[in-house]
This record gives sequence, structure tokens and C-alpha cells, in this order.
Amino acid sequence: MTKKIAVLPGDGIGPEIVAEAIKVMMALQERFGLALELEQGLVGGAGYDAHGDPLPEATLALAKSADAVLLGAVGGPKWEPLPIAVRPEKGLLGLRKHLELFANLRPAQVYPQLAAASTLREEVVAGLDIMIIRELTGGIYFGQPRGVTTLPNGERQGSNTLVYSESEIRRIARVAFAIAMKRNQRVCSIDKANVLECTELWREVVVEEHRHFPEVELSHMYVDNAAMQLVRNPKQFDVMLTDNMFGDILSDEASMLTGSIGMLPSASLDANGKGMYEPIHGSAPDIAGQGVANPIATVLSVAMMLRYTLGEAAMAERVEAAVFKVLDQGLRTADIWTEGTNRVGTAQMGDAIVAALA
Ligand code: IPM
Ligand code: MG
Repeated sequence: MTKKIAVLPGDGIGPEIVAEAIKVMMALQERFGLALELEQGLVGGAGYDAHGDPLPEATLALAKSADAVLLGAVGGPKWEPLPIAVRPEKGLLGLRKHLELFANLRPAQVYPQLAAASTLREEVVAGLDIMIIRELTGGIYFGQPRGVTTLPNGERQGSNTLVYSESEIRRIARVAFAIAMKRNQRVCSIDKANVLECTELWREVVVEEHRHFPEVELSHMYVDNAAMQLVRNPKQFDVMLTDNMFGDILSDEASMLTGSIGMLPSASLDANGKGMYEPIHGSAPDIAGQGVANPIATVLSVAMMLRYTLGEAAMAERVEAAVFKVLDQGLRTADIWTEGTNRVGTAQMGDAIVAALA
């Protein structure tokens, strides 16, 4: 059966990197019989410019009707002066919320070819394979009340609310344990239970859910320590379970262990496995339009889509193997380039990956 993919390139380097992912999907269709129907939509600044809305109605409808969503990146300096309610980021957050994509999977793996590209010593990161499971539709990102008000004395006051219900914690904990069962069966839950009541509840509920997964070894860590341990000894982690904001921060940190944020894909899943797939990096306005961005994170997001939503594990492996092969061939975009390797642009990297699909 043909699967419908909503393709939302977004802003900045989004259109460039998504174009390479489209090449890969087309090649899978033409050469390996994968049946996909791709339909494009506007999101982020592109949505705002065309319709005054970072998540135009037509885009939301397209995303809802599709089997999966592939997203590039949103945002850029051009839209920073806009009120928060219509900023490009709202398009992304709106998609997550409307599609109920509460489970964000952010793997951080170090490719052997790139171990020397990390700013950390090679022996600290070689062989690293972490999966960050970030709660994506709750916490301080969405909590009410929020906003900036003016106090009686005329001073302004800003506030956001960190809030989690038990069921929200329970369902993301379950995802983390289930994924750990397919990996090294270890979950480290990140909180700030020494200070924040909300995350004290987080810890309690995670412990309760753990009863259903006795094979998994559960540990807990305060977020400040976790940030430190990630650069001190990252290989101690298998699955890291975090709330929305801690996961945002720790996943950027983890990405640097791998050499470049340009390598890391992500999946955001609902309760039924429908998902939105995107690179974890942003729209990189500083290099947009230059044809130098690394498309690998987006291509690997296609692989995650094949695996987690489309049930095409063999196709996913084919894409991942092709990425491995081009790295073996010494091809590198600027962000992962090191002395002695072959520097290529966005389209050349995409073409090489397509050629390497076996
Ligand atoms: C991410 C991004 C987003 C987030 C922004 C663009 C809203 O940083 O996906 O990590 O904070 O979740
Ligand atoms: Mg982020």
C-alpha cells in the first residue's frame, strides 16, 4: 500500500537538506519498490510568510492525513522580531502538540569514521551509542500559566510553568523501558528531584512503571550531574529518559559527542507509532543557501521513519548502510571535515548516498 509522507522543508537550510532526503526516498521507490507518495507543505517562517501562520491550516491537515511527516528545520533571524505566538518555532511545537507526538527519540551514535571529529578525545566517544527519550508535548514548553505581565509597581514579570501529569510521565517512561528492552536494557531517568516537586513526581512515577520492566536496570540522575557525566564518561549511558526541556538541552550536548549536530536524526511518535521525523539541528541561517549543509541527519531521519512508522526495517538498514559507506569513502561535508578527507557539498553528499544504496 502506498504510504503518504508529508514533506515540510521549512526554513534556512531546511529546503536544501530535505531535497537530498527526497532524492533518497525517490531512489528507494525507483530501485527497491518502496511505495511512497510525497506531498509538500509550508511550515515555520515559510508558512508565516505565505499565510501569516507558522502552521497554516493546510499544512496541519496534510500532516494529520499523512502516514508520516518529514520536517527540515524552522526559524531564522528574519522572524525573530515577531511575537512568540507566530514565530516559526510555534509551527514545530504546534505539529508536536496537535499530532500528540509525545515521544521524542534522539539517538546519538558515534560513527567510527568520525570519532576523531568530536571535540572530545577519541577514546571517550569511540563506540558511543546513546538513545535520549525526551518527553515532547508537556512540561515547561506547554505549561500554563505563561507569559509576561506587569506588576502593580510597573515592573514586568515573566513566567512559565513546569507541569506534568502522572499519565504523561507514565507513557513516556513506558516508551523508554520498551526501547531499552531492545538495546542494553538500561534506563537512566534525568530529573531535578532535589529541587523541583514536579520532577520528584517524575521520579516516583518512573519507579512505578519500572515494575512492568524488571529486566531493565533503572537509575536516576540529577540533570546537572547528567550534563557533566555526558562529557566525562558518556559511554555509561544506554537510554536516557528526560522531560521536554532537559531533553532539549542534553540532546544538543550529546550531539557534540558524535562530531557534529549535522549527523543526528530524530523521531517524534504518537501512541500509535505515527511520527514526525526531523534532524535535531536547526535551520542554520548562517550557511543557508550555500549548498554546504550536511544532509545526513535528514537522510537518517528517513531511515528512522522507515523503521518506526512504515515498518520497513530492511529499507532503513539500506539507508543507514549507504551513509556508512559514503563516510568510509571519505566524503565529508564541512561540519565533519577533517584533514585528509574529501570535502563535499550538500547535493554531492546526497548523490553519493543515493549511489551507495545497495
Ligand atoms: C529541538 C529544537 C526545538 C525545541 C525548537 C526549535 C522549538 O531546539 O527540536 O530541539 O526546543 O524543541
Ligand atoms: Mg533543541
